[in-house]
Amino acid sequence: MENKKKSGFSGSIGFVLSAAGSAVGVGNIWRFPYLAAQDGGGLFILVYLILVLTFGFTLLTTDIAIGRRTQKNPMKAFASLHPKWDFLGKLTFLVPAIIMTYYSVIGGWILKYIAVFLTGQGVAAAQNGYFDSFISAPVAPVVFMLAFLAVTAFIVYSGVEKGVERFSKLVMPGLLVMILGISIFSLTLRHTDADGTVRTGLQGMAVYLIPDFSGLTLGRFLKILLDAMSQLFFSLSVAMGIMITYGTYVDKNVNLSHAISQIEIFDTGVALLAGAMIIPAIYVFSGTEGMTSGPGLMFVSLPKVFQAMGSLCTVLGVVFFVMVALAALTSSVSIMETLVASCMEMFHTTRKKMSLLIGLLSAGASTLICMGYNVLYFKVTLPNGTVGQLLDVMDYVSNSFLMPLISLLTCILVGWVIKPRWIAEEMESSGHIFRRKRMYGFMIRYAAPVILVILFLQSTGIL
Ligand code: PHE
Repeated sequence: MENKKKSGFSGSIGFVLSAAGSAVGVGNIWRFPYLAAQDGGGLFILVYLILVLTFGFTLLTTDIAIGRRTQKNPMKAFASLHPKWDFLGKLTFLVPAIIMTYYSVIGGWILKYIAVFLTGQGVAAAQNGYFDSFISAPVAPVVFMLAFLAVTAFIVYSGVEKGVERFSKLVMPGLLVMILGISIFSLTLRHTDADGTVRTGLQGMAVYLIPDFSGLTLGRFLKILLDAMSQLFFSLSVAMGIMITYGTYVDKNVNLSHAISQIEIFDTGVALLAGAMIIPAIYVFSGTEGMTSGPGLMFVSLPKVFQAMGSLCTVLGVVFFVMVALAALTSSVSIMETLVASCMEMFHTTRKKMSLLIGLLSAGASTLICMGYNVLYFKVTLPNGTVGQLLDVMDYVSNSFLMPLISLLTCILVGWVIKPRWIAEEMESSGHIFRRKRMYGFMIRYAAPVILVILFLQSTGIL
């Protein structure tokens, strides 16, 4: 971290791509499509897009501007805004700690699918039940998770963030092209059920994109809103200190407004395309019932798409999952890096010791999460009404509970204690205009706090 601080990003592009490297990960490719499918497609997309342009922009701006102006890590940044708000920095630290425990489990699933396609078992993976029987096995998911975690910890241990950034500049465009190609192919799919019903990719695309308001209740709308909001936090890597840290590396003359829009467009674009690649396909092969399958969606539907591609199946499967693994790796490195950097400061130890310790602790915690699908299996109805396992509980605690809470507190601190002008000054310090300044002030003082309170009450089951 220290070296990076001295050198910083070379310019706007470097910053945008690095922030996008952290932002684009399994959140876009795995989480967004399954939430969109669960919540019926079009309506979720609409709500999400509105949120990105209002909330996403507000939260991202706040984090990055705090980082650049204070030049401090999240643990200390909040205290320097106001001594009484020191606790917010500590609370923020909890989020990456929780996310780390399950991110590497999903990273492991991705590695498993690379292995599956490499060994030519792509067709087996396209069968129903394959994914479930894999994640509920006692040993294999743990082994793959450990492999993913070991690579992450090794990168953080060697402190080669610069290398990772360079590398993500290669991976990101490649990933984009593949996702685009596969989504176009998804449109051409068609399937006839045993009873003669025919479903096509184009119909699936309509389900994905066209909002369906029929039978919409307030409760269901709030659930969609909460899901979209939790996805926004997770996907943009906001409300967890990461973007504050990245903000400290940005050069003072970079136009932040511009850079922030680019990060939003990149992140949302990848998520929308990932949905276009997965949702029409799942609709074609399993109808609308298939759409509620939750976290397994990507792993269940994509092998079917690859199988439909015939002889290209193996190659495409391998290349695709390798790219997803790399995108996941750049994100997991940013999560662990945050934990390690904060702990190094707190306990005054070296990077090497801390990466080993955090790597080991994460390995223990992630093993428990894997066991959530076998020994520790339980089904719990979360306060927002979805039924989940241990992994979903962790995801819920960080994304639907802690992040709205942290954002609410941040909005109060920035909107009412230090005042939005403090952020606006930073946004304009490079000599550029802060175009969405009015909206920012309104969002951070009024709109965001009100909606966050409602969401918070809903996520805790009070509403
Ligand atoms: N934003 C990343 C993704 O979409 C995940 C992430 C979460 C990264 C938290 C950093 C911190 O996958």
